[in-house]
This record gives sequence, C-alpha cells and structure tokens, in this order.
Amino acid sequence: MLKDDLAGVLFTEEEIAEKVAALGARISAFYAGQGIGEIVVAGVLRGASVFTSDLIRRISVPLVLDFIDAVSYGKSSTSRGTVRIMKDLSEDIFDKHVLVVEDIVDTGVTLQCLVNLLWARKPRSLHLCSFLNKPSRRKAQIEPDFSGFDIQGDFVVGYGLDFAGKYRQLPYIAILNPSVYESAT
Ligand code: PRP
Repeated sequence: MLKDDLAGVLFTEEEIAEKVAALGARISAFYAGQGIGEIVVAGVLRGASVFTSDLIRRISVPLVLDFIDAVSYGKSSTSRGTVRIMKDLSEDIFDKHVLVVEDIVDTGVTLQCLVNLLWARKPRSLHLCSFLNKPSRRKAQIEPDFSGFDIQGDFVVGYGLDFAGKYRQLPYIAILNPSVYESAT
C-alpha cells in the first residue's frame, strides 16, 4: 500500500483546496488590477499538472492553458545547471503575459533555467507561482511571485509530487518515510 510508505500527512485535501482558492484569488486580483485581459498559464510537467488543473479553476481572468516538460541537470552540483525541454509549450508567448506554475521550488535550478529560456522568447511579463517552496534549499537566486506553503527539508509526495514516479495520485501532501528513499539508494 502507498500509505505504508508515508511518515505522515503534511497538508490535507481541505488545506490544499483552501490554499489553491487563496492563490487563485491573489493571482486574479494581480492581473485584473493591471487591466490584463488574458494570460498564458504554463504548467511545468509532470509534477505541477495536478496543481495547475486545480489552480486554473480558481483564476477569474481569461487564460490559455499550456504545459512544458523540462528536466534539469546540475541539481546536485554547484553548477548553474541547464534545462532540457522534453515537451515545449504549444503557444507562442511573444508579447503575452505568462504565469509559470510549479508544484515545488527546491534548489530553484529548474525554475531559473526555465525562466531564462522563456524570457528569451520576449513575453510581455513572466511571473512564477509554486504550490510549495523550500527556501532553505535554494541554490539559484529565484523566488516565486506567488507561493502556497513554505516547507522544511522533508521529502514530500502527493498532489502531483513523486518519488521515483510514484505517489503523484495522493490527494494530500505527505512526508515520505526516509526508509523508502534510503533503501532506494
Ligand atoms: C521537480 C519539480 C520542479 C523541480 C524543483 O521536478 O516539479 O520542476 O523538481 O526542483 P529544483 O528547484 O531543485 O530544480 P522533477 O524534475 O522531479 O520532475 P517532475 O515534475 O516530472 O516530477
């Protein structure tokens, strides 16, 4: 059972829903306040697929939904890292208002690489939203403009987040039992 691998629930379904609604309201007010008529929401596969799907239903400004799949290298090193695009956006973001949506910002290397890559396409604006944020682990100098929960160093799974491809379907966010990843290395 997946549950046997978990050390405890960090955020329940109810807490997640509440936070997603609050983030959606903040994001809507941010764009509506500037009179921005349409945004491109770019979810980063695969982890952010669940959060992105929930978040767009809480955003009231018109939007186009898109996804990008980026794999970063250099996470564990001190190098700046590079990102490899496995699936690119379908939309041309030139002159568009883009909101990049992540499930978690950990070292920040993935998001930094992605932001550099997307800015080169000359969007009108580029903002970042992450459901979870681990500021203590940051290597790249980047912060999400909108963030749900700051968390500590625990390895968390569920609500789109995985370990070795598993646990993404859990409707809550849980702390993975260290024995699971210790026995995998
Ligand atoms: C995870 C997460 C972010 C990234 C954050 O993706 O979705 O994209 O790691 O880590 P960082 O801040 O240290 O760069 P992962 O590469 O595990 O792929 P996935 O989204 O398919 O799970």
